[in-house]
Amino acid sequence: MPALVIVGAQWGDEGKGKIVDFLAEDADIVVRFQGGNNAGHTIIVDGEQYALHVLPSGVVRNKKVVIGNGVVVDLDVLRHEIAGMSMYGIDPDIMISDRAQLILPYHKVLDGVLDKDAGIGTTKKGIGPTYADKVFRVGIRAGDLYSDDLEEKVARNREMKEALIVGMGVDAKLPPVGEVTGTLRQHARAFEGKVGNTSEFLTTALKGGKNVLYEGAQGVLLDIDFGTYPFVTSSSTGVGGASIGTGVPVRYLQKVIGVVKAYQTRVGAGPMPTEETGELGEEMRQKGGEFGVTTGRPRRCGHLDMVALKHSIMVSGITSIALTKADVLGGADSIRVCVAYDIDGKETTTMPSNADDLWKAQPVYRELPAWEEIDEIAVKMDGYEAFPEEMKSYVQYIQSETDIGVDIVSYGPSRDQTVILRDLWVS
Ligand code: GDP
Ligand code: IMO
Ligand code: MG
Repeated sequence: MPALVIVGAQWGDEGKGKIVDFLAEDADIVVRFQGGNNAGHTIIVDGEQYALHVLPSGVVRNKKVVIGNGVVVDLDVLRHEIAGMSMYGIDPDIMISDRAQLILPYHKVLDGVLDKDAGIGTTKKGIGPTYADKVFRVGIRAGDLYSDDLEEKVARNREMKEALIVGMGVDAKLPPVGEVTGTLRQHARAFEGKVGNTSEFLTTALKGGKNVLYEGAQGVLLDIDFGTYPFVTSSSTGVGGASIGTGVPVRYLQKVIGVVKAYQTRVGAGPMPTEETGELGEEMRQKGGEFGVTTGRPRRCGHLDMVALKHSIMVSGITSIALTKADVLGGADSIRVCVAYDIDGKETTTMPSNADDLWKAQPVYRELPAWEEIDEIAVKMDGYEAFPEEMKSYVQYIQSETDIGVDIVSYGPSRDQTVILRDLWVS
């Protein structure tokens, strides 16, 4: 039962979209299982750049794509994205779980209002409030689009938001129920026949020997439980989320590829022990093109954090690593990795559960040999062996420290700037 699960091992933007697109060549189905359009996944093929937020990255290869029950879906954005694919001659073959929660305009308003106080620096796409409504049991699901009491459900949802906003003394406008319901009815027509039981669909496909590729969004350090709470997103980003977010038992999901950027980035607020706030951070940002795909915000940059990475691997079920952006470090004066935190004079290699402790963490660095710029032509000819020796020892260092194989090395944003060391669909 060949399923491959791709998860981000850091604070998102590790290059998941690129890796999903690369592996999608041999996939029959590509499925998103959590998050929503807070994600921004970039794929570059033959100079053409695709930026996807809700649609699984498999659309670029014209694969069947599925939006699982764990995803929060903004149908306006989804329709816009689907329409955008026509410019490439692609009409996405999509199926949406009838259990997927819908992001309403109310959620976006509330996200903005709440984040003013919370200062998490959310994407303001309504993600947190939509997941909160799921747990409050007042959410609207894709299956509700076809129910007669849709308008009542929307009204109830709005009422709760209004009470909250009024209670907080905030002056924010919530669109009327009729308007929101009217738009949802239009979406219902647009997705007629495409909303259904994706759990059954995926399980049947897996049992029938189809290759299913799971596309994670965000990253383990943004996970609602295991991330740097409260500076996190509102979903489970590891293999557990993949199972719950699609209704496919975890025993089917044996292979989990953690996408690891060769250094560290973060967008939004929250502790980041290895952040470089000066010139070096700016150099990394420019060279790595570290600007958000969803919000355009500059990403904070710093050194690879092994304490955080080992934590991510432990809690998310990662069995294999796809290393990205080692090319960005080519030509650097020195390479540093954080091997421990010093918190109040005590050294630790355990990721603190508490953001206050993490704010105080001083990185303990180990210096590793720097490498020259990658010779792309040589790598295209001779593969992995042609990478600079020092870069290969960096890869070796990550492998031996994490005890996980680096099976894919990405050395540029394009699909063809990728070296695969093991066929993950097979072995
Ligand atoms: P995602 O959210 O994990 O899919 O990642 P994003 O697309 O938000 O950000 C990753 C960025 O790095 C994008 O601009 C990619 O085109 C780019 N990228 C991916 N892999 C590589 C790589 O190996 N080297 C370089 N230089 N850029 C890469
Ligand atoms: P991809 O899939 C990087 C961050 C936001 C904020 C926090 C909470 O492209 O890797 P939210 O809107 O989710 O409530 O915001 O999470 N965040 C991401 N950072 N990449 C992402 O997705 C992110 N999705 C959310 O910046 O700090
Ligand atoms: Mg991204």
